[in-house]
Amino acid sequence: MIVVETERLRVRNWLETDRPLFAEINADPKVMEFFPRQRSRQESDALMDEARRRISETGLGFFALALKDTDEPIGFLGLALTDLEPFLPNGTVEIGWRLAVRFWQHGYVTEASEAMLRHGFENRELAEIVSFAVKDNTRSIAVMQRLGLRHDPARDFEHPRIPDTAAHLRQHVVYAIGRDEWQKRQRRA
Ligand SMILES: CC(C)(COP(=O)(O)OP(=O)(O)OC[C@H]1O[C@@H](n2cnc3c(N)ncnc32)[C@H](O)[C@@H]1OP(=O)(O)O)[C@@H](O)C(=O)NCCC(=O)NCCS
Repeated sequence: MIVVETERLRVRNWLETDRPLFAEINADPKVMEFFPRQRSRQESDALMDEARRRISETGLGFFALALKDTDEPIGFLGLALTDLEPFLPNGTVEIGWRLAVRFWQHGYVTEASEAMLRHGFENRELAEIVSFAVKDNTRSIAVMQRLGLRHDPARDFEHPRIPDTAAHLRQHVVYAIGRDEWQKRQRRA
């Protein structure tokens, strides 16, 4: 199933052939700089299975992001239900992304995320979409800003599942955009 398509990209269901790329990004220290640890191939496969399970149950979750011309996977992107009570109430929907380094700096994530926001607000009728990141993750925060999400300092939080060994990754910032604001932005564009 294809969720959204843009000029250069496609967000689609995972294929078995995507497993090596998914494992590559989850094991790359540069991609995983803002996560407590990298993942083994086995852990990465389990994460993909979990993503697929969530997608089949709710229609929400992290999908494969692929180049439209070749269908080559380059990372993941999705709208997912958060699991961060009490910081973000259950039912909150986040937009999230992760790309192999060789596909950074092409504008791919911003392009596909613009289409995902449209999908979220128009097809899924969401009232708000949030995104969060380690406060020093400037590349991810720059994507949020390009998409028109705004920092909501009142919702910033210390991530409860970051271990003491990675305490410097605990402080997270929260960005958000509501449907009304997104619609206004579309009219201005
Ligand atoms: C966060 C992440 C997805 C951002 O990737 P990115 O390539 O910087 O983001 P975009 O796809 O929006 O690309 C924007 C960049 O492409 C450049 N670009 C090049 N060609 C472009 C084009 N045709 N159109 C638009 N932008 C283009 C832009 O100038 C911008 O570069 P700049 O930041 O130097 O100004 C990536 O760094 C990543 O996977 N990080 C690791 C995982 C992670 O931290 N995930 C988030 C956890 S919260």
